[in-house]
Amino acid sequence: MYTDLNNKVAIITGGSKGIGTAISKRFGQEKMSVVINYNSDEKGAQNAADEVKQAGGQAVIVQANVATEEGNQKLLQAALDNFGDLDVWVNNAGMEIKSATHELSLDDWNKMIAVDQTGVFLGSKTALAYFKKNNKKGNIINMSSVHEQIPWPTFAGYAAAKGGVKLFTKTIAMEYAKDGIRVNAIGPGAINTPINAKKFADKEQYDQTVSMVPMDRIGDPEEVAAGAAWLASSESSYVTGITLFIDGGMTLYPAFKDGQG
Ligand code: BGC
Repeated sequence: MYTDLNNKVAIITGGSKGIGTAISKRFGQEKMSVVINYNSDEKGAQNAADEVKQAGGQAVIVQANVATEEGNQKLLQAALDNFGDLDVWVNNAGMEIKSATHELSLDDWNKMIAVDQTGVFLGSKTALAYFKKNNKKGNIINMSSVHEQIPWPTFAGYAAAKGGVKLFTKTIAMEYAKDGIRVNAIGPGAINTPINAKKFADKEQYDQTVSMVPMDRIGDPEEVAAGAAWLASSESSYVTGITLFIDGGMTLYPAFKDGQG
């Protein structure tokens, strides 16, 4: 646990399931106050809020579309109205749509870019404006993916967005370093979350994914949340502009693992 996080205020987008819920819960264990954003899954968000409270933190849930300026303003306002401040903004909401690229509709492309990339821009913009105005050494964490680095055929929109998140994170980390604002990304690999539920229910696909992980297993959302807590805390005070891969080694070129090549 990181005691400097006690009573800090965080916004977590896409908190109604998976990694977002795990981060909310972990922040609750850190005795933080959390604004849990959801798009459509109110029940999931409520469940995440209950977990935060059981863990000893405070929580409110807020419906908002992260791809809009109004949605992000609504989240900031909820943090200020309920908890009086903002310290940490986690841009976690994300989505992926599988399609051969020559068949990917413009509509599906736009949806992925809107949530996975524009959402990260707008959340960061809203947080940065608040931090600047109030002279706060705030903290931003952007959920990227191993696919900011590993090309992913049939998921071109998602990979393009995550590649964008990578350089966006590094760019604003540099732009606001002098203000004491830290900005980092997390790059999860294959994690046991609803986004992967269908794929992992199929044994063949599950085994195939595991075979691409040097540590030979799928990760847990709590292992990603642990990275978020560390990045939010002052234990990482000299860290900005990185992507922290939490991937069991997936980014290490696993095809070479037995000395091939
Ligand atoms: C995706 C998962 C995928 C993992 C590893 C993540 O970014 O959301 O669906 O299993 O990358 O390929």
